[in-house]
Amino acid sequence: MTTTEAPLLRVRNLRKHYTSPKRWLQPAKPAIQAVDGVSFSVARGETLSLVGESGCGKTTTAKSVMRLVEPTSGSVELEGQELLSLSPEDMRQRRRDLQIIFQDPYASLNPRLTAGDIVAEPMRNFGNFGGSAAAERRERVQWLFSRVGLRPEAAKKYPHEFSGGQRQRLGIARALALNPKLIVCDEPVSALDVSVQAQVVNLLMDLQAEFGIAYLFVAHDLAVVRHISHRVAVMYLGHIVEIADRDTLFSKPLHPYTEILLSAVPVPNPRTPARRLLLQGDPPSPANPPSGCRFHTRCPMAQAVCKEKVPELSERASSSQGGHWVACHFR
Ligand SMILES: Nc1ncnc2c1ncn2[C@@H]1O[C@H](COP(=O)(O)OP(=O)(O)OP(=O)(O)O)[C@@H](O)[C@H]1O
Ligand SMILES: [Mg+2]
Repeated sequence: MTTTEAPLLRVRNLRKHYTSPKRWLQPAKPAIQAVDGVSFSVARGETLSLVGESGCGKTTTAKSVMRLVEPTSGSVELEGQELLSLSPEDMRQRRRDLQIIFQDPYASLNPRLTAGDIVAEPMRNFGNFGGSAAAERRERVQWLFSRVGLRPEAAKKYPHEFSGGQRQRLGIARALALNPKLIVCDEPVSALDVSVQAQVVNLLMDLQAEFGIAYLFVAHDLAVVRHISHRVAVMYLGHIVEIADRDTLFSKPLHPYTEILLSAVPVPNPRTPARRLLLQGDPPSPANPPSGCRFHTRCPMAQAVCKEKVPELSERASSSQGGHWVACHFR
């Protein structure tokens, strides 16, 4: 990866505010600012992870990139092409380069189709393996099954006959069917047993090495994030507060929120004393976020300025690949 190369995905100033319909004679509810001005890029073959507390806007960001929810404003460019202005049909065509896998593959796999048909379906829909190429399609399904570690006989089974790990492998096989350039992974291993998690994470990494796929990877588990990511973006209440390459972020976090988040991760070297910092209070509501720095109500370093002025996400002097960006008045 070189920093001069245009990124595969570039997201700028992305906003998604959920509004509820105005009810007669009732005051309008404030919009939920789930994602509020998020910018990042993902290079070809790179894994960028999004981390942060529940409700900080990771899934909304992931779905906005795919236009599974329609962003309120901003820009999402794939290979320089703006996705947010594409017609539904053009967007459908572009989706072959852009796939998603979810935490619960069961919810996203059609229970009435066999596993083989589930994987063949995108190929049929896009026609590039279609027409008289049924045999070719079948062959590719078999190849995809073997590539994700499923036995050929599994093609005849239905989703409910699979274990959680196998179902996620099936979801991955389907995502791979059209040779995507980017796969958005929303908590893909969070529901799996630890040993199965490792297998699926390693599978994703092998597939990346083989096919040069980029991942936008959403996860709670920082050990998984540390293993799989090239770069990591930390979100707090709809904002990105820090982005850096994985090693820099885990060894020299700058934002107080990142420090607290990482202090909860077990230290690999048992001789280094664990230094667990605690996050105080509940996250504020995204319908009524704090003024200035959104983290100031829970930040141990907060000063008067933090309440008044929104800190810009700006680059700090560093040797970090892609730069080390932080939004804090004091770091
Ligand atoms: N369809 C929706 N309508 C209204 N509010 C929503 C909707 N989807 C999400 N939200 C709200 O937007 C905020 C961000 O939610 P999101 O699901 O993106 O968070 P997340 O970081 O993925 O959380 P988790 O780690 O729990 O999956 C939350 O406050 C959530 O309640
Ligand atoms: Mg989520």
